Amino acid sequence: MTNMKATNITWHEGHVGREEREKLLSQKGALIWFTGLSASGKSTIAYTLEHALVQRGHLAYVLDGDNIRHGLNKNLGFSAEDRKENIRRIAEVGKLFVDTGVVTLTAFISPYRGDRDAARETVGEGNFFEVFCDTPLAVCEDRDPKGLYKKARAGEIKGFTGIDDPYEAPNKPEMVIDTSKMSPQEAAISLCDMLQEAGKIKPISE
Ligand code: ADX
Repeated sequence: MTNMKATNITWHEGHVGREEREKLLSQKGALIWFTGLSASGKSTIAYTLEHALVQRGHLAYVLDGDNIRHGLNKNLGFSAEDRKENIRRIAEVGKLFVDTGVVTLTAFISPYRGDRDAARETVGEGNFFEVFCDTPLAVCEDRDPKGLYKKARAGEIKGFTGIDDPYEAPNKPEMVIDTSKMSPQEAAISLCDMLQEAGKIKPISE
C-alpha cells in the first residue's frame, strides 16, 4: 500500500457514469494484462489485438512498458521496488481507462505475482484478464530484438528478467499463450473470443 501524502482532498462524482459511456461506445471497459519475459510477444500481440478490435468497431488502446517508461514512468528503473511502482501506476491508469469504457491492453513484464495480484485488485475482478505470454526463455533470447539478452549475458545489464532477475509465472491466468506455437493473429482471435464470452464486446454479426 502506497502511503497517502495529500491531505484536505475531496472525491468528486461526475454526472456521467461508466454505463453511459459504455452505451455510447457499444462495448464494456476491460483490461487485458499481458505478462511475460522481454521479447515474449506481449507488445506484438497487444498491438495486433488493438488493431483487430478497432477494425471490429471497438475502441482499444495499448499501454506498453517500453513506451510508458519514456514518459509517465521515466523516473523508474528495474529494482523490485521500481517495478512495483511501475505496475502500481499502470494499474491505476488502467482502472481509469476501464472506467472510460475502453478495452485497455497493458504490456509489461510485471515479473512479480504480488504486483500483478495488486493490479487485479485495483482494476477489479471481472474487468481484469491476465494473459501469460509463456514463451520459453530460449525463444525470447533467440529473438532478442533489442540485443538486451546478449548484453545481459555479457554482464553489461544487471538484473535482467530471466537472466539474473526473477520472473514469477501466474498461477491462474485467464489465458496462456505460447508465441512459439501461435501467431499474433491467432492469439488476437482467441482474445477477441474471450472478450466476447465475457460480454465486453459484441459478436461480429450484431
Ligand atoms: S517491468 O518489469 O517493470 O514490468 P517493463 O515491462 O516496464 O518492465 O519494461 C521492460 C522493458 O525494459 C524490456 O522489454 C526491455 O526492453 C527493457 N529493460 C531494460 N532493462 C531491463 C531489465 N533489467 N529487465 C527487464 N527489462 C529491461
